[in-house]
Amino acid sequence: MEPRHSRHIKPGLFIWMASLPFIPIILAAASSCDFPAIFNFGDSNSDTGGLSAAFGQAPSPNGETYFHHPAGRYSDGRLVIDFIAESLGVPYLSAYLDSVGSNFSHGANFATAGSTIRPQNTTQSQSGYSPISLNVQSVQYSDFKKRSQIIRSQGGIFETLQMFPDILGQFSDVVTQIYAVGGRTFWIHNTGPVGCLPYSLDRLKEAVGQLRKDLPQAAITYVDIYSLKYTLITRAKEFGFEQPFIACCGHGGKYNFNSQRRCGAKITVNGTEVVIASSCKDPSLRIIWDGVHFTEAANKWIFEQIVNGSFSDPPVPLKMACHGSKHP
Ligand SMILES: *[C@@H]1O[C@H](CO)[C@@H](O)[C@H](O)[C@H]1NC(C)=O
Ligand SMILES: *[C@@H]1O[C@H](CO)[C@@H](O)[C@H](O)[C@H]1NC(C)=O
Ligand SMILES: *[C@@H]1O[C@H](CO)[C@@H](O)[C@H](O)[C@H]1NC(C)=O
Ligand SMILES: *[C@@H]1O[C@H](CO)[C@@H](O)[C@H](O)[C@H]1NC(C)=O
Repeated sequence: MEPRHSRHIKPGLFIWMASLPFIPIILAAASSCDFPAIFNFGDSNSDTGGLSAAFGQAPSPNGETYFHHPAGRYSDGRLVIDFIAESLGVPYLSAYLDSVGSNFSHGANFATAGSTIRPQNTTQSQSGYSPISLNVQSVQYSDFKKRSQIIRSQGGIFETLQMFPDILGQFSDVVTQIYAVGGRTFWIHNTGPVGCLPYSLDRLKEAVGQLRKDLPQAAITYVDIYSLKYTLITRAKEFGFEQPFIACCGHGGKYNFNSQRRCGAKITVNGTEVVIASSCKDPSLRIIWDGVHFTEAANKWIFEQIVNGSFSDPPVPLKMACHGSKHP
């Protein structure tokens, strides 16, 4: 029998930032380090336009630093996933939900902001939660699988790609599934300290340890984003950042954050709309963008720290991740 991976997954990078409870995960599976495509799953930290496509653009001043207009991202500029794409020579990922100008020949992004595991019983305007909960993402994903047959005519990765992982399986199940169809490189990325329970990280690390035993041919890299973001926030000054706890774009309160008046919020004064939650003077000196998400400057700094493998276990650079600890 020929090796299964030669039939199913050709070189390509599957990045997965899945929003299991408080555990965004980056997962990469490929048979070589030449990655012509990226597939990403996750939440607002890696949403390149999913929620915006469904509910209208993330308002200005989102996007102001790099794109100079709102670009579907909850940041003033690029996200870590954008820096990853740049470094691998792949175009920025189109959001699966975005029907305008999208091109999936180098991958797709399923991440959407504000998603929850449980289906929502309120509207977004009532609760602020996205109705694109995991069961909805499941429907989208299964649709994408079926219709990817059609977009194969666009060329690129779709000419050869025949199987996609079930993103809703348990983390370990998904890794095992990708492994079964030939995936041999996994880049697992834990989350930052915002809202993250340390016991979740322990569970993730345990799961990774078990997977290493169960999938002996896989190169599994665990990236400790938690420690890195913690370090960034607690030692901000050292790295050239100011006011690590204060949102750059927001309105009011001790932290320039009010959940009713988030970044870009407007009020009507005497019949005229006025933005009351606007950007700070210099976002490049700030870490927290809108009280929840990171600035482009912080995202870039984070990317620069993780790309060479210094926060990875084993300490393998991203581009060498397909070789795992066996790299020269
Ligand atoms: C999509 O992008 C690829 C690579 O950048 C390009 O070759 C192709 O022509 C694009 N497809 C469309 C429909 O724009
Ligand atoms: C919506 O869900 C919440 C949390 O599960 C529950 O407390 C509430 O009663 C539900 N509301 C309705 C209208 O079903
Ligand atoms: C709104 O209009 C009233 C009446 O013209 C004026 O007194 C008030 O100062 C205006 N408020 C603002 C915030 O411009
Ligand atoms: C990785 O890159 C960071 C940022 O450029 C640098 O501080 C660190 O020393 C590098 N680590 C290794 C192991 O090369």
